[in-house]
Amino acid sequence: MLKKKVLVTRKLPDEAMRLLYETCEVELNPYDRAMTEDEIIEGLNDKQGLLCLLTDTINAQIMDAAKNLKVISNYAVGFDNIDVKAATERRILVTNTPGVLTETTADLTWALLMAAARRIVEADGFMRRGEYKGWGPMLFLGGDVFGKTLGLIGMGRIGSAVARRAAGFNMRVLYYDMNRLSEDEEKAFGVEYAEFDEVLKESDFVSLHVPLLSSTWHLIGERELSLMKLTSYLINTSRGPVVDEKALVEALRSCRIAGAGLDVYENEPEMAPGLHELENVVLLPHIASASVDTRTKMGTMAAHNLIAGLVGELPKNCVNPEVFSKAEHS
Ligand code: DGY
Repeated sequence: MLKKKVLVTRKLPDEAMRLLYETCEVELNPYDRAMTEDEIIEGLNDKQGLLCLLTDTINAQIMDAAKNLKVISNYAVGFDNIDVKAATERRILVTNTPGVLTETTADLTWALLMAAARRIVEADGFMRRGEYKGWGPMLFLGGDVFGKTLGLIGMGRIGSAVARRAAGFNMRVLYYDMNRLSEDEEKAFGVEYAEFDEVLKESDFVSLHVPLLSSTWHLIGERELSLMKLTSYLINTSRGPVVDEKALVEALRSCRIAGAGLDVYENEPEMAPGLHELENVVLLPHIASASVDTRTKMGTMAAHNLIAGLVGELPKNCVNPEVFSKAEHS
């Protein structure tokens, strides 16, 4: 049987690439950078499959140009970079990589939370610059974590994995989600439901775990930041545009909140003017899922999703399964 042709927009961990090369005719982006829209269109010319990243915007124009495209496999759990409605209209399957990155992302959320509260990055810089002249009673005083209140906006897989970790710090955990958990689930996770504004007002740490949708765009802006405690911290490992970054810079600059930890940005890879000059924010380059094991699992999952779709099976992690038809997709 002829191998299906696929475009892979960035080199993935070896195990995933091996799987793809074994089963497909692969065209791989030769550069260590995201492909441009024109390059993707050109690359997809004769391809049935696309394996892309969250940095690739896959819009209707690309889909229209890719006449043979049957499956788009995203190497991420979030798929806001793909116009799923357009894909569905064109009967193209779209898949993502849920589950495998949950714990790694929750770990990094905690790393950011701890780093922001205890001023780890500032203190590290101080040491490296040779400024430490001896123990001081007022040196790098930060915020406590133990016994404080953690507020989770979004209580899906990642939100609940973050909640589980809070038990070790004896924290009260509040959450807001469009879908309230059952009483049993709330008990099991040790969390209390509260209205959105209440979570903001009551929490010492507010951590965001929602997908990027039109309803979550700028979910946290000037109004929401003004509800938060002066001593509180905002942590974002979800998607940058969930936060109005300009309003956040203002809130951090004026010490309206104590600090923030960010892994994602409104216009990645750019940052809002002034953000990088502030000391009360920890800035990471979107690495929440970046462990060797997890990135390998994401790669093999994305490869399996793509291959399944191309051989006429419904991929396990299809976000628009209504499109699937065995006849059409084999
Ligand atoms: C995802 O999978 O959506 C993450 O942001 C990748 O790190």
